[in-house]
Amino acid sequence: MMYVPAEDTFLLMECVQKYSGRWALEMGVGSGAVTQSLARNFENVVGTDVDLASLAYSGGKGLLLVCCDAASALTNVRFDLVVSNPPYLPDDLERDRTVHGGPSGIETTLHFAESALPLLSEKGSMLFVVSSLADSSALDSFAKEKNLNKKVVKEKALFYERLYVVELTF
Ligand SMILES: C[S@@+](CC[C@H](N)C(=O)[O-])C[C@H]1O[C@@H](n2cnc3c(N)ncnc32)[C@H](O)[C@@H]1O
Repeated sequence: MMYVPAEDTFLLMECVQKYSGRWALEMGVGSGAVTQSLARNFENVVGTDVDLASLAYSGGKGLLLVCCDAASALTNVRFDLVVSNPPYLPDDLERDRTVHGGPSGIETTLHFAESALPLLSEKGSMLFVVSSLADSSALDSFAKEKNLNKKVVKEKALFYERLYVVELTF
């Protein structure tokens, strides 16, 4: 099922406007709202999603859309910016892959980061939406282990959670 743009989508869209370059990647494009905003400041924009129906909906001129897990189908390219508003809520009894990101909520985010890191250019940035409802300590450990700088570039309080956009750089 396609994810309808919400507060988390808009928060990430605000952030990506501050970046520009040649190649950008969004993992988990959903409706394509973020992918399309990347196309304003990047020459080449690639989007991936496991949900083919979302990709069919989100297509646009100049966007390269790939149906695959995370960045698994991509090689021979270096991205200046990698972004994702991943499924970040801790799993419920019935897992919905558009919103539930694993037992702690952070597992899919971690999987995305691991998948895209080899494709990140030396001066590139990765941006991930993270929720206060997830236990994000595994992402901190990942950043430490890979010697990445991690900083919060935007945050927003909603009535039931706090959303952060986290930037990882070399
Ligand atoms: C929270 S939605 C975000 C959609 C859109 N980017 C936005 O911000 O509105 C997460 C998206 O990630 C996709 N997704 C989930 N697991 C994935 C995976 N392993 N690889 C690629 N995409 C995945 C879902 O199908 C969904 O479209």
